[in-house]
Order: sequence, then structure tokens, then C-alpha cells
Amino acid sequence: QSIVYRETIDSTNNLARELANNGAIEGTLVIADEQQQGRGRRGRDWFSPPQSGVWMSLILRPELPLAHAAQITLVTAIALARALTRLTGVQAGIKWPNDILFNQKKCCGILTEMHAEFDQIHHLVLGIGINVNIPQADFPADIEHIATSLQAVKGTPIARAKVVQTVLEELEPLYRQYVADGGFGTLREEWKAHNITLGNNIIAHTAQGTIEGRALDIDEFGVLLIELPDGAHKKIYSADIMF
Ligand code: BTN
Repeated sequence: QSIVYRETIDSTNNLARELANNGAIEGTLVIADEQQQGRGRRGRDWFSPPQSGVWMSLILRPELPLAHAAQITLVTAIALARALTRLTGVQAGIKWPNDILFNQKKCCGILTEMHAEFDQIHHLVLGIGINVNIPQADFPADIEHIATSLQAVKGTPIARAKVVQTVLEELEPLYRQYVADGGFGTLREEWKAHNITLGNNIIAHTAQGTIEGRALDIDEFGVLLIELPDGAHKKIYSADIMF
């Protein structure tokens, strides 16, 4: 395994994809001090100022069918919730599918990008963004009320290297367990224990439109199950959730 470091980059996910396409092995980690075009889910920008966060992308090559990719992102969210709770001493929550929040404010997001061949995962790029030493007042005005950082939560700065180390310590065994079991197993229960989505009335913004209902559960594939106002049940595969 190797670590590829850049002072500044467009997006660590871009370089990781390029390396993966050129044969980089599982465990290769791309990490940058600053991203100039950091990307979030659904085509959004990801605020990635210099030396203030962990902006990194991990190349994985699980020998599993395509359907497992979403679950690997949920497993990553568990590892992040564990790591960020350890680092701050404050309980982190997972918002489905994979945002990590403290006190309803987002501190960390995951952008998984994948290359599959014939229904098998060829590689995954697991992009992880963690706001570490960003004072609350330094967030851009449009996200100031919905974003937070580890420093803002803990009250003191935290070394970014320590954050990377703690995340990888939590992620590696969980990922290995997931691949060995070929599925969620008991990890689904742990995801549920960390989650802050289930049981709430939510508004889900999906590519097909907006759906309101009560979040009931996630199934064994990590798909969100909601109850509509008329009592019918519906599965949500991908969405932004608002409470
Ligand atoms: C989201 O919550 O919308 C996902 C945010 C993912 C941000 C990380 S930072 C490292 C990697 N490179 C990117 O361009 N994005 C991800």
C-alpha cells in the first residue's frame, strides 16, 4: 500500500480514479492539504480549504458484485462515526445514507465512485471529507448553519494526521469483516445504533422527486424504507434527507 500526498489538487477522487485505472493496489490512499474542486454528492461543491480538513480518497478492490457498493459506504460511515466520536468525546450520528453529524450539523461526508465490469466491482474510490480545524465562523455563509468541524465540536484543534490514523484504524477491520462475510451481518445493527434518521418524519429529495414520510428501517442492502402518509411503504435507494 502507498500514500500519495499532494499539497493541492483538484479532487483527491480524480487522482485516485486515475491511479486505480492504472492498476494501483487496494489500500492506496490519496490525500491532499487542499482541494480546488472538491466534490460532494449530487454535483455539489465540497468546501476544502488548505490544511483545515482531511480530504482523502481510498482505493478498494472488493471482489464482490456491484450491489455491495452502497453497503461499503454505509460500513465506512460506521467507521467514521466510531472514529469521530473517539476523537471528540462527543457522540457522532449517521444521517442516511452516509453523512456524519454532530448536533444536527454535518462534519463529514463520503463520496463513493465506482468502476464495475460485468456486474462485478472493479474498484471503488471512497472519498472522505472531514472538517477538522475550521472555526465555525470560517464556513461560507451558505453552509455556516448546516456545517461544523471537529474543532468546533471539541473546542480545541486536532492534528489531521491523528484524524487520518484513527479513521483508518476503525475502517480497516470493519471493511475486512464486511468483505469476509460478504454482507452486513451484525454491522447493520451497529449502523442503526449510530443513526439519527430512523423513526423521524423526513423529506427525501430523490432524482425522481420529493417524498415525505416516516423513516422506518434500512434493509439488508442498506436501502431506506419509509412509510408514506397513507400507510404504504416505499424503498428509497438514493436521496438527500431533511428532517
Ligand atoms: C458529500 O457529503 O456530499 C460527500 C463529500 C465528499 C468530500 C470528499 S473530500 C475527498 C474526496 N474528494 C472529493 O472531491 N470529494 C471527496
